[in-house]
Amino acid sequence: MIDFSITNDEYMNDLMELVRLFEGASDENLSLGVDYRADGEAFRVNVSSDKYSEFQKNFYFPFGKYDELMRKRVEKRYLKIAIYRTLCFLTGVNLPYGCLTGIRPTKLYVEVQNDREFYGKSARDVFLKDYGVSEEKVELIERIVDVQRPLRNKSEKEYDVFVFIPFCPTKCAYCSFVSLSLDKRRKLVEPYVDCLIRELEQTKSIIKRKKLKVRAVYVGGGTPTSIGREQLDRVLSHCHFKAKEFTVEAGRPDTVDREMIDMLLSHGVTRMSVNPQTFNAKTLERIGRKHSVGDIINAYALAKGKLDVNMDLIAMLPDETFEDFKYSLDTAVALSPENITVHTLYLKKGSALKLDGYDNTDCETAGRMVDYAYKRLTEAGYVPYYMYRQKYTSGNLENVGYAKPDKECLYNVDIMEEDTSIIASGANGISKKLDRKKQLITRCANYKEPLEYVKSIDLMLERQREFWS
Ligand SMILES: C[S@@+](CC[C@H](N)C(=O)[O-])C[C@H]1O[C@@H](n2cnc3c(N)ncnc32)[C@H](O)[C@@H]1O
Ligand code: SF4
Repeated sequence: MIDFSITNDEYMNDLMELVRLFEGASDENLSLGVDYRADGEAFRVNVSSDKYSEFQKNFYFPFGKYDELMRKRVEKRYLKIAIYRTLCFLTGVNLPYGCLTGIRPTKLYVEVQNDREFYGKSARDVFLKDYGVSEEKVELIERIVDVQRPLRNKSEKEYDVFVFIPFCPTKCAYCSFVSLSLDKRRKLVEPYVDCLIRELEQTKSIIKRKKLKVRAVYVGGGTPTSIGREQLDRVLSHCHFKAKEFTVEAGRPDTVDREMIDMLLSHGVTRMSVNPQTFNAKTLERIGRKHSVGDIINAYALAKGKLDVNMDLIAMLPDETFEDFKYSLDTAVALSPENITVHTLYLKKGSALKLDGYDNTDCETAGRMVDYAYKRLTEAGYVPYYMYRQKYTSGNLENVGYAKPDKECLYNVDIMEEDTSIIASGANGISKKLDRKKQLITRCANYKEPLEYVKSIDLMLERQREFWS
């Protein structure tokens, strides 16, 4: 437990996030007090702690003349560095991502690369020396940034379309996403699809009016295929945007049969996911997936050669050892899908595992698992092509998407690097408008809860219309 206080709490939320990372990684009980001030040329931070009597650490950072926005950015950055260094010293723990708390390390890396004048050194040095990111993680970030370079969207006129379907056969024990279990909410499917179709019709007219091209369509969830072939067929009939890439998340393999695959193909779908999460039967049961290992193999066999397939795996699932994870990863590699995405378990409030009190803080095993995934997958010819981090993750680690060469998913790159406007529909859909010149992103979010979304569809349509006008 780390008790934390700061004289001015303007940056409290962000700094608490950093302190919390140490709480997961160390058993220390200590309290930390931070005082800071800026004068003309310097930013001074004083950190004190009760761990050693009269412990004090003073930091001095050169400080320029900034406008208000920039001043805050710089202050927050220096505070994080000072607190991180102090906590490393007091706990003896170094975190793989140093003082970084954001979800997009690769996006940040490119920003630092593009602003060398402001940072005064290379992005590599900023990440290693200022932020305390480990050598291995900097290499991973650099590799992904390189792979992404030719894939990045260069046109202001190319948008993505995202469609959200928030239904699943059952709720998985680790999941905190917006998803309704079909056991209880089947009656909502049809009205939900009706609303989605109204939004997609509006999306079509926005695209026409603005003379846009669609780069990628992504139908995600939830488990879009769980609503059944007929309803999904209705949705996909309104997703014909001549996109370069068209993904439908099938996710739960027990929702896939031959007819489903044929229907996806008839709409020009190019990519789908069949997500094992694990190839261990006992774990599948423990996490409430309600499907078998055989279902995964069958669904994959139906899709193989017809569609590009992604498989999601999770490291640190409950009661799994390193060997269990290794077995799942090796099995996925042997099946050889176009993409394999390796997540590290994170436990947020809405998940049953969190309520059960499951402890996911074994940093060492988590680290071994993701290191093994990187080594095994890259040796098998996959390249890491996008990454993101979540809060409350085992070992403060990351999620990485791996692809066979030229099989990277553009939508995943776009959503993480935030360089493409996205027109989103459905509950929890967040449209993003990018102003490249101003480097500004504005958002328009639909209501999160599916029932609220259905009840308020006229308002949702009006808000999106105005947003894109
Ligand atoms: C938005 S979910 C949708 C995928 C699909 N419904 C499924 O479960 O197969 C995308 C992926 O995020 C990962 N994920 C979800 N919750 C997670 C958690 N608590 N920790 C780690 N990964 C998680 C899973 O691998 C999941 O397949
Ligand atoms: S992990 Fe996927 S299938 Fe499971 S509840 Fe979450 S969204 Fe649904």
